[in-house]
Amino acid sequence: MQLSTEHIPVALERTIDLLAPALAGTNPCVIDATLGLGGHAERLLERFTALRLIGIDRDKSALEKAAARLSRFENRVTLVHAVYDQITEVARESGYSAVQGILFDLGVSSMQLDQSERGFAYSHDAPLDMRMDQSRGVSAHEVVNTFSHEELTRILRVYGEEKFASRIAARIIDARKLAPLNSTVTLAELVKESIPAATRRVGGNPAKRTFQALRIYVNNELEVLEHAIPAALELLAINGRMVVLSYQSLEDRIVKQAFTEVTSSEVPHGLPVEPAPAPFHLLTRSSESASDEEIAVNPRAQSVRIRAIERRAA
Ligand SMILES: C[S@@+](CC[C@H](N)C(=O)[O-])C[C@H]1O[C@@H](n2cnc3c(N)ncnc32)[C@H](O)[C@@H]1O
Repeated sequence: MQLSTEHIPVALERTIDLLAPALAGTNPCVIDATLGLGGHAERLLERFTALRLIGIDRDKSALEKAAARLSRFENRVTLVHAVYDQITEVARESGYSAVQGILFDLGVSSMQLDQSERGFAYSHDAPLDMRMDQSRGVSAHEVVNTFSHEELTRILRVYGEEKFASRIAARIIDARKLAPLNSTVTLAELVKESIPAATRRVGGNPAKRTFQALRIYVNNELEVLEHAIPAALELLAINGRMVVLSYQSLEDRIVKQAFTEVTSSEVPHGLPVEPAPAPFHLLTRSSESASDEEIAVNPRAQSVRIRAIERRAA
C-alpha cells in the first residue's frame, strides 16, 4: 500500500523509543488503544519480534485497513472494535490483567479526514456526520439542526474554546429556520459569516474550532478519555510504559492531570513521616513536541504533545 505523506504516523521513532525498555522482556504485550491505520502498531511489531499487540479502534473501517496492513503479523495481533474506555475489558478478554505498553494516539486519523463523506473536514463538501463509529450516537447533523441556542453555545465554547460561540449558535438557528443545514461547507461558511471581519483575517480557518467542538461532542471524546487514562494506568505492569500523543489543549490537559495525580507523592497531612513514593514516574518532563524536521514533512505533527509515564517497581 502506497501511503501519502499525510498517513505518516506522528512521532513514530520517539514513541517507539519511549515504549522500548518496557517491551524488551519475554512475551511482552502492548495495547494500541487508537489503532487507526496501524502505523505505530506495524513498527512495534517489526521491532519487537516476540511482541503481542492488541489494537483497539471505534471505527470499523480503520480496523479493516489496519488488519490488511498487519496481516503478516496475524498470529501476534488481536484487533477489537471498541471504545478505548473499555480497555480493561478488552485486555481481560484477551487473557491479560496487566500489559507492558499502552499507546494512545488521539483524535481523528488522516484517513477519516480524507474520507470526505464522513464530514470531519470543513474543506471538503460532505454531509455533516463526524461520528467515528457511524453505527451509533448522534451525528453533527442532528446537533446543528435540533439543539437549542444554549446547548450549541455551550458545545462551541467548551469543546471549541470559541469566543464567538453565542453568535455562531444564533446564526445556525436562524439559518436552519429556512432550510436544514446539511453540508460541511454550508456550516463552515456560516461560521465565517458569524465572526467579525477583523477576526476573520487572522489565524487559520475560522471554522476549525466549531468543527473540533462538534467532533468532540459527537464522539464524547473528553469524557471517554477521562475514564480511559486512569483505567489504562491501572493496567500497566511493573515497569510498564504508556505514551499519549494529543493534538489539542483540552485532551492534553486531561492527560497531564491524570499523570500528575499518579506521580505525586502522598504526604499525610500533619504527620512527620516520609511521603510514600508515587506509583508512577514521568518519562517526559513536561510535554514534548515534534521536531522541526518532522513537522516539515508531516504537518499533522505540528500540534502534537507527547507525554509518557512508567509504573515503578513496588
Ligand atoms: C490518530 S488516529 C491513530 C493513527 C495510528 N496511530 C496510526 O499510526 O495509523 C486515531 C484513531 O483512534 C480512533 N479513536 C479515536 N477515539 C477513539 C476512542 N475513544 N476509542 C477507540 N478508538 C478511538 C480513531 O477512530 C482513529 O482511527
